[in-house]
Amino acid sequence: FYVDWDIITAEKAGFDHFMLKEIHEQPKAYRDTMGSRIDESGTKVILNEVKMTAEQVKSIQQVHIIACGTAYHAGLVGKSIIEKLARIPVETDVASEYRYRSPIITPNTLVIVVSQSGETADTLAALREAKRCGAHVVAITNVVGSSVAREADDVIVTWAGPEIAVASTKAYTSQLIAFYLFGLYLAQTLGSQDGEYIASVVTELKELPAKVEQILEQGEAFKDWAEQVASHNNLFFIGRGLDYAVALEGSLKLKEISYIHSEAYPAGELKHGTLALIEEGIPVIALATQDDLFEKTVSNIKEVKARGAYVFGLHSEGETELVKAVDQVFSIPNTLPLLSPALSVIPLQLLAYYASLARGNDVDKPRNLAKSVTVE
Ligand code: G6P
Repeated sequence: FYVDWDIITAEKAGFDHFMLKEIHEQPKAYRDTMGSRIDESGTKVILNEVKMTAEQVKSIQQVHIIACGTAYHAGLVGKSIIEKLARIPVETDVASEYRYRSPIITPNTLVIVVSQSGETADTLAALREAKRCGAHVVAITNVVGSSVAREADDVIVTWAGPEIAVASTKAYTSQLIAFYLFGLYLAQTLGSQDGEYIASVVTELKELPAKVEQILEQGEAFKDWAEQVASHNNLFFIGRGLDYAVALEGSLKLKEISYIHSEAYPAGELKHGTLALIEEGIPVIALATQDDLFEKTVSNIKEVKARGAYVFGLHSEGETELVKAVDQVFSIPNTLPLLSPALSVIPLQLLAYYASLARGNDVDKPRNLAKSVTVE
């Protein structure tokens, strides 16, 4: 009797690839990252690992978020979260740019470094530069005891568990959860939002894992979508506000593993150049989950449709207008607009996964890329 299995197959737990397994682990990663960081009444955040005093929090004049790759994209969402909840100005930078642009860092600058591995050379160097200038550094990382975790002043661990696939999925979404928690913590400490609003965000946050499960149940629908996209060599992602930040991550995911060239564009910026590239049949993936920007996004969709684009739209359940403006539509469950990135990115991860599969690529180990880049 011979059992044909190896340790790798066993670790994939029945999934064909680590990436698919990790996509499916996201509800658990969200729950674990929220864990005991939400108080029993479900109305407040408790971040005991952040040792800043209330005085220190109140003295923050600006926040710099520094990261690379997918973690940088989480940082772009983090900027919106912190600005909205804490009303402090935030800049998000790619670590390799930040280091060399003489950033203005003062002791009243809070620096947040985001790194799944905690070992990325550029991120670590930026962290050291921030510390040298006297900033307080908070790390968001998935690896307890990593270099970034050891050198930062405070560490918020994302409890996503080990991520094996090069294309990051559950680490990214756990970083978003960490940003929601940290943004709420700042708001509570600063009194920048009233308790009722904070409680409503916390309540919605707790609903996210079940909503991710609902999206994952539609997995096969995304396969069909990916198969339509896989024969193209160019496509665009468009969105406004937080939808744009998620579009950037969706585009990166697709590039990394399907090798399809794509660009993410702020929908309102198309007319300043990129519209020239829209031609008959080109796929455009339009994210339209942000209520206050919805009408504006729809008018940008009409601009690309008028030039022959084939538009896939992504909206929140219950919204009825997008279907009239696009060729195909996908829904995510309803949530607060601020929280929608934690849902809208899931279909884009599945799109990238199935497109890579359709093209016969090595999903978990894409060419030229490494999981962790520890050299400059
Ligand atoms: C590499 C990986 C990316 C990752 C980036 C930053 O490029 O392929 O998936 O986002 O490094 O890694 P970090 O561990 O710092 O989050």
